[in-house]
Amino acid sequence: MKVAISCDHAAFRLKEAIRAHLEERGIPYHDFGIYAAGEKRDYPYASLYACQAVQSGDCDFAIVMCGTGVGVSMAANKMAGIRAACCSDYFSAKYTRAHNDANVLCMGERVVGEGLAIELADVFLSTPFEGGRHARRVGQIADLERGELAPETK
Ligand code: RB5
Repeated sequence: MKVAISCDHAAFRLKEAIRAHLEERGIPYHDFGIYAAGEKRDYPYASLYACQAVQSGDCDFAIVMCGTGVGVSMAANKMAGIRAACCSDYFSAKYTRAHNDANVLCMGERVVGEGLAIELADVFLSTPFEGGRHARRVGQIADLERGELAPETK
């Protein structure tokens, strides 16, 4: 498993905490920056670089961070094949993997503390997709993305 991480200027400290945690756990990662406090980056670019690594298959998951986590998730979800979830609670971080097969976790430095963010990252990265009926619904998201989601038949 390899994880892409990225952030805007509002989440540099949180990205560094996640990076240090991945390092400590020996989880391979690619850090798409930013690389210093004070460096500026608009949040859509944080999503772009990390999610491109997921799209290409270079990384299995991405963790993308901004002030709220909302901006990076909105941007990420514009990208083909990306299922990004903005999470600030454990249950959502677990079940967005189990039920939505999310491939991008978004978090906000101004929303979650470092300890919680690490818990969220751990449960996100370790929870498998359940498949089954959930696979049909994830397929419907892909259909929606292509503008091909058929009307309900019932
Ligand atoms: C940057 O100030 C802030 O707007 C951004 O990090 C994010 O919270 C947007 O959703």
